[in-house]
Amino acid sequence: MNLQLSRTGEMRHLLTIEGLPKQVIYDVLDAAESFMPVTKRDVKKVPLLRGKTIFNLFFESSTRTRTTFEIAAKRLSADVININVGTSAVAKGESLLDTIANLSAMNADMFVVRHGQSGAPHLIAKYVPPHINVINAGDGSHAHPTQALLDMYTIRYFKKKFEGLRVAIVGDISHSRVARSQIHALTTLGASEVRVIAPKTLLPANVENLGVSVYNDIALGLQEVDVIIMLRLQRERMSGVNLPSSQEFYSAYGLTQKRLSLAKSDAIVMHPGPINRGVEIESLVADGRSSVILPQVTFGIAIRMAVMSILAGQAK
Ligand code: NCD
Repeated sequence: MNLQLSRTGEMRHLLTIEGLPKQVIYDVLDAAESFMPVTKRDVKKVPLLRGKTIFNLFFESSTRTRTTFEIAAKRLSADVININVGTSAVAKGESLLDTIANLSAMNADMFVVRHGQSGAPHLIAKYVPPHINVINAGDGSHAHPTQALLDMYTIRYFKKKFEGLRVAIVGDISHSRVARSQIHALTTLGASEVRVIAPKTLLPANVENLGVSVYNDIALGLQEVDVIIMLRLQRERMSGVNLPSSQEFYSAYGLTQKRLSLAKSDAIVMHPGPINRGVEIESLVADGRSSVILPQVTFGIAIRMAVMSILAGQAK
């Protein structure tokens, strides 16, 4: 059973990009585009979700994602409640589904969930009554669909189309839910080539099966690339001894100006954040003219407005 699409193909939950039809992705990008003027107005609000109650449930730390979900909900005129997991009943041993049951009893309409455990948002989506929508805001190393959607918005904004594009994703692929969601989105949307560039120790097993080409050498991997997506070393998800030190990683894979010059001259540089300067990216690149890292954040608000309003059946 497809948990996130109804029998007639409408999105009920957003849990993963995998298996999401191209048209559904385009519908989100187009709805986000229609919200962009709202985000620039003096009065940045539309009444589409007035009276709806949205719970932001973040079991893992976050700045950009949690805040932009909150702003998006407020710009749609919803009531948004941030649950501080550290000081909630979860800290007193309440189970995830008991927390959800209690918040559902407060007439929740939507849950935005980030969780360290892959699959937690799916579990919640299976459990909640049919009128409640669930959005995955990042689960373990599995998926981060709204991040991938805002990244697709960014690529379309700067490059106009996906056909013919060569995209490189660089760094800690194995722990990255962002990379997985981006790969599914880019292959669905028809990018010409998706490359992953990383040391063997930071690549998941059988990554080629996702339809990507694999490079261990960044100097080769960046040749002729239109889009470079840098990723943070997710040390909090690493165990074992195969970890490169920050200096080793920077010297082998850090995106410096010199390396950036190997890509196409109009290549854009993206990063989901948080960036670690001098580990995966040089400051001159992060703040340079090819960087679109801050526009990504701004687009994230419109994308989250789009997803919430589509799920609530209120897309413009
Ligand atoms: C990412 C995440 O949490 O998955 N950040 C984000 O949501 N913008 C990537 C990361 O933590 O490195």
